Amino acid sequence: MKVLTSPAAARQAVDALSDRGVTTGLVPTMGAIHRGHLSLVQAARQENEVVMASIFVNPIQFNNPDDLARYPRTLEADLEKLKAAGCDLVFVPEARDMYPQQPLTQFAFGPLDEVMEGAYRPGHFSGVALVVLKLFHILRPQKAYFGQKDLQQFKIIERLVKDTSLPVTLRMLPIVREHSGLALSSRNQRLSGEGKQVAARIFQALQKAALELTTSRNITRSVAAAQQHLAASPGIEVEYLTWVNTDDLQPVERISNHDQLALCFAGYVEGVRLIDNIIVDIHADRSS
Ligand code: PAJ
Repeated sequence: MKVLTSPAAARQAVDALSDRGVTTGLVPTMGAIHRGHLSLVQAARQENEVVMASIFVNPIQFNNPDDLARYPRTLEADLEKLKAAGCDLVFVPEARDMYPQQPLTQFAFGPLDEVMEGAYRPGHFSGVALVVLKLFHILRPQKAYFGQKDLQQFKIIERLVKDTSLPVTLRMLPIVREHSGLALSSRNQRLSGEGKQVAARIFQALQKAALELTTSRNITRSVAAAQQHLAASPGIEVEYLTWVNTDDLQPVERISNHDQLALCFAGYVEGVRLIDNIIVDIHADRSS
């Protein structure tokens, strides 16, 4: 497995691959590699001759300096895991090479980033979009792999790719969870054992809400079911809990047939910010 740190060296390696006409897939990450990331590598492995990953804790997407400072950095272990999963090339740039100057380019995604993460983390998606665009330009993958865990991020990158006619096919893969249901996240490392148990209630609450929605078809009742579960024991501070349409990420108050909806959660456990979501397909009411 090749590990490249300079954008120029990465470009050169990619030029050599494109001369040979091989198909390439990219898994962009910020490191602290876990099974969620590795599921993306596995999907990329199945669909491409060469699998590339990137590890870069992108400073411009952190709106909270403390979160950036505490972000786990475990490069040696990360490289071992990526190698074992069948990665061929890992790009690990330095911030000074990615941003020799403070970038001035900013992105706004209108309604897509006025909600949820965009509303609570100003500038976050502009920073994500810029780094993903840079990674796509440097590594020129034919396919790129992202997790449903960051549903809004996926939808925004999808729109960025469409709006800028980038020749890359995007794939979104399901959320990988602990046995308890807790969505794997690099930030989980900062939770105590008890904190992890508390955080497992998040997915339970999402499942209860999904069940309530498919039976009652009532958004208010569904959200109430989740809130009740989250409030039943202390330790979870909810930031938002919103049903949105997966097409445009806009909040929904009433369901209609054939919609695909996602219930998106953000909140804090032991001061650690966690997100999760569940997707539900609404089918035509069979009784009518
Ligand atoms: P990071 O949080 O490291 O996540 C990298 C990729 O792994 C993202 O596409 C994310 O959705 C996916 N992922 C994280 N947890 C997952 C889980 N439990 N199951 C499945 N996939 C999961 O997302 C980022 O980094 C950055 O914003 C990045 C896109 C790299 C830009 O800096």
